[in-house]
Amino acid sequence: MTTITVEKLNHEIGAEITGLDADRLAADDTVPGLILDALETNGVLVFRGLHLEPEAQVAFCRKLGEIDTTPGHHPLPGIYRVSLDTSKNSSANYLRGTFDWHIDGCTPKDDTYPQMATVLSAKAVATSGGETEFASTYRAYDRLGTAEQERLRGLRVLHSLEASQRPLNPDPSPRLLEHWRNWPTREHPLVWTHRSGRRSLVLGTSTDRVIGMDRAAGRALLDDLLARCTAPEYVYRHTWSVGDTVIWDNRGVIHRAAPYPQDSPREMLRTTVLGDEPIQ
Ligand code: OGA
Ligand code: MN
Repeated sequence: MTTITVEKLNHEIGAEITGLDADRLAADDTVPGLILDALETNGVLVFRGLHLEPEAQVAFCRKLGEIDTTPGHHPLPGIYRVSLDTSKNSSANYLRGTFDWHIDGCTPKDDTYPQMATVLSAKAVATSGGETEFASTYRAYDRLGTAEQERLRGLRVLHSLEASQRPLNPDPSPRLLEHWRNWPTREHPLVWTHRSGRRSLVLGTSTDRVIGMDRAAGRALLDDLLARCTAPEYVYRHTWSVGDTVIWDNRGVIHRAAPYPQDSPREMLRTTVLGDEPIQ
């Protein structure tokens, strides 16, 4: 049996897993624990050329935790189709929100917590753009000085759908604006203290304003933190080939897709492993 290896992609974030094929991923019961450990350590795991079938992806993700099975524009429960083509995904317009840095699930419709992990597999790739970028907000927090860490631990931030959609659509119709505003907003601490004891920053496009702070000053603080967290030397950028699978720890990693055209063939199949940790 080949040995599974975990090789860091750079000093900040990401590791490539080799020695594992799609059959073994599903069959070997030692694999899920190993993957969860490697995910905790590295934030993002890359499996090049795995060619995981959708059924196998869902089966594997179920071993990592409970998964999201709400309908996802795909016949198989547990798969959400990421495509800008409205004939493949009727909510495709919202997916342009993935072009900005974000954490998945900061403004849920119900009382769920942000997902634990997200898995994407490339079914078709873009001819231009469409890379996915990742930055660790655990590392970003750890890089701050003690005084700044302490100050940020006292702040709370309002997250909204409107904040994440407005940059893409600065002039919404009244109907769209109403839809955004009817969506529940959420207040989260800026610093998430995890059960593991690690801390991360809760940043990204859903951040609207810092509670109790002048709007412009709060915005400047959030923008500055995001820029420092996502400086090029801290980012892993994945250039996709068909058959690649990537999994990230959604609790302490922010991500974004490099813009790709509306008529791009790019198609990703996503499975979401639900989270059970409130942001606190
Ligand atoms: C997502 C997402 C990024 C991409 O599916 O949550 O942000 O590269 N996708 O498609
Ligand atoms: Mn996302």
